[in-house]
Amino acid sequence: MILDGFMVAKKIREEVKNKVELLKQKNIYPKLVAIQIGKNIASEIYLRNKKSACEEVGILFEEMYFDENTKEDEIISTIERLNSDLLVHGILIQSPLPKKFDSNKFFNLVSEEKDVDGFCNINTSKLYHNQDGFKPCTALGVIRLLKEYNIPISGKHVVILGRSNIVGKPLALLFLQEDATVTIIHSKTINKENLIKQADILVSAIGKPQIIKSSMIKKNAVIVDVGINYLNKKIVGDVDFDDVKQESSFITPVPKGIGPMTIAMLLLNVVTSASDKI
Ligand code: GUN
Repeated sequence: MILDGFMVAKKIREEVKNKVELLKQKNIYPKLVAIQIGKNIASEIYLRNKKSACEEVGILFEEMYFDENTKEDEIISTIERLNSDLLVHGILIQSPLPKKFDSNKFFNLVSEEKDVDGFCNINTSKLYHNQDGFKPCTALGVIRLLKEYNIPISGKHVVILGRSNIVGKPLALLFLQEDATVTIIHSKTINKENLIKQADILVSAIGKPQIIKSSMIKKNAVIVDVGINYLNKKIVGDVDFDDVKQESSFITPVPKGIGPMTIAMLLLNVVTSASDKI
């Protein structure tokens, strides 16, 4: 069965739209500012999708672009100004950044209350300690999609491919909160195939086109594909969807799987941030 992230995200956007209407009646106009540093085609596409989702639900969206040669101080002072701007509720710095910048330094400058990506040290620490705070949107989107389909998580063996700060690590923590047993596979893992075969829920977030094949998975596993790759000018996931579909019980497509869920979670975080101002 297909886990239809596109459809679930659409439903969530309707909920967000209603929340935005209520906020506007209280003269609160939720606003997200997205910062892009340096040219990156994938980031431009992500930001275009974030912008159109914001516009659809009535969230104000401003995009700020800094070219690669911008002085670090200028970016720092911009983030600080946005932190103290009462009309701004969410700030995100689109990843990846050009290599010469320390992305963690910028992520950590965003105030905890406006950090709708959940990347600053306070929010990552809160996630670690099971406390309330903004959590990374892709990880939230994965868990929310599984819950929408009533897929049991407690006690299951979840295998995550990829250990990034943006997806793999926070997702492992969220699955632990849901009482799953979690394995993270990365480039140095020995005997990857054996571990992948044991997964009740397999999440791939490595960015390698169609490398997960039906022969690699446990029969009736739940397959979540976070990968967004370009192959022959088409967008494909890390999973060979047509091959793996029959062998799995549930599977997310790419596109229209986790991508729209990530954006829906971002919108929810912005509305939560704006609601906290009441
Ligand atoms: N790059 C890829 N995914 C994300 C995300 O969720 N947030 C940000 N800021 N950058 C990303």
